[in-house]
Amino acid sequence: MEITIIGLGYVGLVNAVYLASLGHQIFGYDTNKNKVSLLKQGVATIEEPNLQELLSSSQKNLRFTTNHKDAIRQATTIFICVDTPQSEDGSVNLANFYTVLDTIAGDAIQDQTIIIRSTVPVGTNKIAKNYLENKSSCKFEIISFPEFLSQGCAVDNLIHPYRLIFGVTSQNGIRISKEIAQAFLLKKTQVMVTSPENAELIKYASNGFLAMKVSYINNIAQLCEKVGADIEKVAKGMSLDPRIGDSFLKAGIGYGGSCFPKDTNGLYWIANDNSIPMELIRSTIQINESQVAFFLNKIFKRFRSLNGLDVAILGVGFKGDTEDVRNSQATPIVKALLEKNANIIVYDPLAMDNFHALFSRHSHIKYVDYAFDAIKGADLVLILNDCKEFKDLKASDFVSFMKKPIIFDGRNLYKISDMDGTEYHSIGRPSTNKIS
Ligand code: UGA
Repeated sequence: MEITIIGLGYVGLVNAVYLASLGHQIFGYDTNKNKVSLLKQGVATIEEPNLQELLSSSQKNLRFTTNHKDAIRQATTIFICVDTPQSEDGSVNLANFYTVLDTIAGDAIQDQTIIIRSTVPVGTNKIAKNYLENKSSCKFEIISFPEFLSQGCAVDNLIHPYRLIFGVTSQNGIRISKEIAQAFLLKKTQVMVTSPENAELIKYASNGFLAMKVSYINNIAQLCEKVGADIEKVAKGMSLDPRIGDSFLKAGIGYGGSCFPKDTNGLYWIANDNSIPMELIRSTIQINESQVAFFLNKIFKRFRSLNGLDVAILGVGFKGDTEDVRNSQATPIVKALLEKNANIIVYDPLAMDNFHALFSRHSHIKYVDYAFDAIKGADLVLILNDCKEFKDLKASDFVSFMKKPIIFDGRNLYKISDMDGTEYHSIGRPSTNKIS
């Protein structure tokens, strides 16, 4: 197939490279000149396992441009992959999305199929058709095709998807969806063709449900600490029931990133707009916000003052092994520690540059190249994401390198029984003995 992809952020670029690797002809368009220039040179602009390799080996099937006319005029199939961020009131900001529709309407010289991969509120696909056709003499087939990629395993998610969901309104839409499903698949998977409203809501309801699981287990973790239970054991016992399963039951300092916070707020807003109270989602959001304060309170209770203490931060990406710091729990945590005049030493194998950009005016933050350089001489260590590299650290590393081995683990990376010799605090589990 020949496909134009509009928006070469996370979703657009991974889709472009993956489809090119399967032999499809991909024309990628983005307004960001720097990004397009790097992609033209064969440099992946995001860190994602296998992405660079696939980009390098699929060059002959990839073209990139900042010229929308080139990308759109001749296109028959267009994927819209621009971001739909959260507005201040929690609603979904569709400004980028409508800019793309305006561009398509202005440039199209033939009928086109528009595949919407961006996460958009229920009803948007229908609105998009009228919007385009009112502004253009061409006809548009609109197909909702929400994406379900997780950062850090996005290429693998495309190779082995759990499901492909298409929202269509016509027989022609059904035919094209099957063609697209064929274009995507190396392996057999569940393909569901349904209405655009269903497809749009499946995306929000899925992210809302997963976020709800995380907040639920975090709420139970808070209770564990009061009643002397261990959240890791509780979650394990729960997961033995296959109806519950073991995914998204890892307690910690809460969810972040560019999806869950935005989509839970978006879902709450959409429900509210339709006069449906969605208290479960409201609580999910509130519990998530309280989880950072819950973690910080442990630290503030332990240290009467943080003034002048060296605090090593391991992990500033919103989860481990990503460069993305959007809505990372590390941001409010570091801000709170700076307010207490702590000296911050940050290490993250991928996310440090982006974090540095957020905190560029703060001279009390030092960035180091190795985990050991962060913990060396530190008064306390905070672990804020589940980066693979941190899981390999041993109690003896903290004991040998730190002033006193005091650890606050916001992601429960270690077994308590492995942390002998340290003062180890985690989430929803008993702390080990205080070191005086
Ligand atoms: C999420 C969904 O998992 C994808 O299916 C979806 O396509 C994507 O959003 C999207 O809408 O584009 P992602 O944001 O990459 O993917 O990250 P997740 O792995 O889902 O993690 C989200 C947050 O929840 C992270 O901060 C993570 O640390 C946290 N989390 C996750 C937990 O605290 N506990 C868990 O058990 C699982």
